[in-house]
Amino acid sequence: MPASPLSPRFVLPDPPLADEIVLLRPPASADVPAIAAACVDPEIARWTTVPAPYTPDHARRFVAQTRRWWREGRTGAIFAILERSSGSLVGMIGLEPAEPGLAEVGYWVAPEARRRGYATRAVRLVSTWAFTDPGLVRLELHTLVGNEASAAVAAKAGFTREGVARRGIVVRGERMDGVVFSLVRGDAAAG
Ligand SMILES: CC(C)(COP(=O)(O)OP(=O)(O)OC[C@H]1O[C@@H](n2cnc3c(N)ncnc32)[C@H](O)[C@@H]1OP(=O)(O)O)[C@@H](O)C(=O)NCCC(=O)NCCS
Repeated sequence: MPASPLSPRFVLPDPPLADEIVLLRPPASADVPAIAAACVDPEIARWTTVPAPYTPDHARRFVAQTRRWWREGRTGAIFAILERSSGSLVGMIGLEPAEPGLAEVGYWVAPEARRRGYATRAVRLVSTWAFTDPGLVRLELHTLVGNEASAAVAAKAGFTREGVARRGIVVRGERMDGVVFSLVRGDAAAG
């Protein structure tokens, strides 16, 4: 019988993940105003699990939690997405280990920074990096049915659309229909 896969255990990449346009680094306290400003966006509230209504206090607690996770090296690996040309925070992306061999990726991009390819770049960078962890076999990306922007990001980043998990995603206590995308070790986009 093959050994069961290890749970991924993400260690902060050094040097930071980056391409010519975006750079990913852990969220910092100075990011709180930008995070709080972005997360009041109705589209983020509509399609993600961030709290709604979103307050600066949510942003403060989120940053503190992500920093703790990086320090302890145990749970989610969360990165702020920075636009390299300006240094501005334009979004957030995170990996959450779920079961042995499995992690889930989630993200948002601030309204004013959309349609410039930032989400696709960040998903590609994070996915390739995630598979350098020998414990990762499968990366999942879930979108709510109807979130065409996010589905396009998943497809552009090389994920395979597997189908609809009916009432398969919990958003603020409610079970919703979700589309499941995956990238598995050995896929071209897995690096
Ligand atoms: C989904 C989201 C992260 C996309 O971020 P982005 O940086 O604008 O995405 P990209 O620029 O990489 O877009 C890649 C492709 O997605 C498609 N796309 C992006 N926004 C779209 C939109 N509003 N409608 C239709 N297609 C869209 C396009 O095909 C685009 O490629 P193109 O610009 O070359 O045509 C952003 O719209 C967002 O934060 N939405 C709210 C939160 C959310 O849905 N998060 C994901 C939860 S699963």
